[in-house]
Amino acid sequence: MEAVRKIGNNIILSVELLFNKGFPNRLNPFYHLGSLTFFFFWVVLVSGIYVFIFFETSVAGAYPSVEYMTHDQWWLAGIMRSLHRYASDAAVISIFLHMFREFFRDHHRGVRWFSWITGVPTLWLVVILGITGYWLVWDQLAQYVALATAEMVDWIPMIPSAMVFNFLDNQITDRFFTLMAFLHLLGLPVALVFLLWTHVSRISQIDFNPPRPLATGAFLTLLVLSLLKPAVSHAPVQAGHSPMVLNLDWFYLNIYPLMDGMGPGWAWGISTGVTALLLMLPWLPSKKEQPAAEVNLEHCNGCGQCAQDCPYGSISMRRRTDGKKSEFEPTVNPTLCTACGICSGSCVSSSPFRMANATLKTGIEMPWFTVDALRQEVKSKLGALSGAGRVMVFGCEHGMDVTTLKDPGVAVVSLPCSGMLPPSMLDYVLKNGAEGVLVTGCRDGDCYHRFGNTWTEQRLSGAREPQLLKRVDRTRVVEFRVSDSSGERKALQQRLEAFRRSLSPSA
Ligand code: HEM
Ligand code: SF4
Ligand code: SF4
Repeated sequence: MEAVRKIGNNIILSVELLFNKGFPNRLNPFYHLGSLTFFFFWVVLVSGIYVFIFFETSVAGAYPSVEYMTHDQWWLAGIMRSLHRYASDAAVISIFLHMFREFFRDHHRGVRWFSWITGVPTLWLVVILGITGYWLVWDQLAQYVALATAEMVDWIPMIPSAMVFNFLDNQITDRFFTLMAFLHLLGLPVALVFLLWTHVSRISQIDFNPPRPLATGAFLTLLVLSLLKPAVSHAPVQAGHSPMVLNLDWFYLNIYPLMDGMGPGWAWGISTGVTALLLMLPWLPSKKEQPAAEVNLEHCNGCGQCAQDCPYGSISMRRRTDGKKSEFEPTVNPTLCTACGICSGSCVSSSPFRMANATLKTGIEMPWFTVDALRQEVKSKLGALSGAGRVMVFGCEHGMDVTTLKDPGVAVVSLPCSGMLPPSMLDYVLKNGAEGVLVTGCRDGDCYHRFGNTWTEQRLSGAREPQLLKRVDRTRVVEFRVSDSSGERKALQQRLEAFRRSLSPSA
């Protein structure tokens, strides 16, 4: 499974690189698949409410009311119907891309298992929403969907009444139809909202909306599609006849051809098997996280910056318990902590200039990689630097593997996330033997730990606490973000060499 994930990761990195060449990174749709799905749901909701105004919830009235919208009021209700359909299809595409991406980029294991597991049932809910939607049109496709669904339900041994015969005899009643309408219009959407709220409840600072240009582009694409190829119904249901030619929506109705070809037992078996596999993925193999961050109250002034910066909402501020002056203190929920180290980069106490002759202690740190250990590593590597253009490179283990950069004039330190780097460490490095510092990590907009590279950029530019002091010569600091792909390895090498030449023009 890990081999599959790695192959998928390489593929997705290459595809995303192509998009990054065409768009600014910030607008890369692959970096916004969750929020794009929310956007498509908004379009589905608004267009659905409009369409519902005209829709008649009865077996006899449904088809003519949809036909009225499609042909008589094509210029608005018809467009709304098409938007409703195409936005639903787009949502399925973005959900699946989102799921594959989270898996390939290894965002599904460790403490992130919760978002993964709560994502899986959304797939079922969304597909059932689509199926009930097609059912409501009550055309020949709906008849096929109704018959095939009844056959699938009849296959379940616990359900005694033969549903399928009701449909064959065209016995569907207004009451049953109203039940479908209720499920589609209220029951399933409410369940989906609840599930999605649970899905993101463990993540902090979620962007529910994609960037405006991306949302505008997505909407215009749906609109153009709706104008060029308006959604239409099949022929009306014919009593006693099975439907002949059908244009299936493969995003929602793919289970039915499977059932036609292999029988309902196989269709159930494959769909439950795939679901079970998806539910097991976070533990195939499971990920061993490092121990959670620990708070050292005696070095904490209660500023709350660590709580603001934690990408997983694992830090909360509570009333101070040690009687010190500040009102609050941080507390870490270890079951949410991914051990990214971003909080120790946030803490003003993480300055390597403090406690120069003692073990450096900071307000919040990683027990397995303390800021003191980082300072020691930096110190010893600075001591080994030689030649002109001496540069210290800080890298993130999820971006480019910096340990491959071998040169007597280059020292490297790998971090769990570039966000673990306290800005004062750059000042320290430049005062203790390096002529320049290069900070690298995951691609812009694609931080493995969500905000590590954004926070680093903001700290170094002075837009976020703790800031890099003004006295630091900015020409000696470079940020260059790349993933571990072959093309980008070369780009990083070239950037590093150019930087080193700029530091020592005489070399
Ligand atoms: C209706 C469908 C879904 C919507 C609207 C949705 C939306 C979102 C959003 C907005 C986030 C937060 C992204 C961020 O701010 O970093 C997220 C995270 C996540 N989603 Fe979904 N999601 C859906 C379905 C799924 C499915 C089917 C799966 C996989 C089975 C999944 C797996 C995940 C995972 C693992 C994360 C956590 C990523 C992290 O911690 O960095 N989602 N989702
Ligand atoms: S290590 Fe990362 S996840 Fe854990 S508390 Fe610190 S910032 Fe939050
Ligand atoms: S950032 Fe440091 S000083 Fe501020 S609350 Fe967190 S641990 Fe305390």
